[in-house]
Order: sequence, then structure tokens, then C-alpha cells
Amino acid sequence: MAKKIAVFVGSLRKEAYSRKMAKALIALAPASLSLEIIEIGDMPFFNQDLEDSGNSPKSWTLFREQVKKCDAFLFVTPEYNRGMPAALKNAIDVGSRPHGQSVWEGKRAGVVSVSPGNLGGFGANHNFRQTMVFLNVPVMQQPEAYIGGAKNLFDANGALVNESTSEFLKKFMAAFAVWVGDRA
Ligand SMILES: Cc1cc2nc3c(=O)[nH]c(=O)nc-3n(C[C@H](O)[C@H](O)[C@H](O)COP(=O)(O)O)c2cc1C
Repeated sequence: MAKKIAVFVGSLRKEAYSRKMAKALIALAPASLSLEIIEIGDMPFFNQDLEDSGNSPKSWTLFREQVKKCDAFLFVTPEYNRGMPAALKNAIDVGSRPHGQSVWEGKRAGVVSVSPGNLGGFGANHNFRQTMVFLNVPVMQQPEAYIGGAKNLFDANGALVNESTSEFLKKFMAAFAVWVGDRA
């Protein structure tokens, strides 16, 4: 059966390169993977008091339920000040609680960082990986994906225009499918 993959986009911007990249990755994925973006933009910051009061925001509960239904995760993130954006970290934190009930536990992931700059979001990519170590989410090691020069990658409709990048991303998604256990 097709693996169900939750895709998370680290930017909340409408025209985000990372969202365009996420859509491109979904389009390039092997047909046997079923990928869907789970939105992270409407969740309040994690606050232990809300959790302890038994009145957690509905958006946290809904998010956790959506993530639990998935077999593995694909994160596509920009870099903010050499780390992952707060919205993405918040979503990861929300999913990690209540203590002992993390929705991430033991499932596999991949990460693609995207930037208009030359370093391709290296800092965000590894900041993300550090958090995943603690959450017991093995992140695919190779190929690594630090995608720079994002301004020149997409046309007005958000389609990839660079052939070598498309080839690389296709290989990335094929490796990701193997990583999450789809060997068909
Ligand atoms: C708060 C903030 C911090 C940023 N820090 C970095 C950074 O550390 N490295 C980088 O390559 N780009 C940085 N940028 C520029 C982003 O890469 C750029 O705005 C990019 O378009 C954001 O990704 P998005 O298109 O997916 O929204 C930063 C942008 C913002 C708003």
C-alpha cells in the first residue's frame, strides 16, 4: 500500500519558495507515495499552561490527529537566521506533547532546505536535524538537499525551470521512497 507522507512547509508566506518546492517535490515523487501538505500556520504557540488546563487549542489536537495518520514526514524549510523558522519549530513542539505522546516518535523523515542565498539553508537543515535526534525521528542522510538560488528555480506558475535541479529532486524523492520503506 502507498505510504502516507505528511509534508510540512516551514514558511507561511503565500509566494514562499519552500511551498513551491514542496509542490514540486510532491509532483516528482514516485506514484506509490501519497503526499499531502499539513498546514502549520494557524496554531498558537505551544504553552504548557494551556495543555495542563485541559483546554488545548483545537488546532493543536487537529494537527496531532492529522500527523498521527501518516507513515512518514517530509519537511521543506527556509532558513531564518541560520535556523528553522519559529512556525515550523512550534509545529514540531506541538506534535511532541503531551509528554510521552509525541506524534513523531519513531517515524522516518526527510528534509529539504531552500533559500535564495548560496548556502541553501544549510543552517536550518541541520538545526532541524538536531531537534529530530531528540524526537527519535531518523532523517534521511543521503542525498542531502540544500537548495540555493531559489529565485531562479521557478516560473510564474511555480513550476521548476532548472533541469538539473529537477533531476536531483527526482533522485531525492526516489531515495526518500526507499528510506520510508516503499521498495516497490
Ligand atoms: C527573519 C528572516 C531571517 C532570514 N534569515 C536567513 C538566513 O539565515 N539564511 C538565508 O539563506 N536566508 C535568510 N532569510 C531570507 C529567506 O531565505 C528568504 O526570505 C526566503 O524567501 C524565505 O523563504 P520562503 O520563500 O520559503 O518564504 C531570512 C528571512 C527572514 C524573514
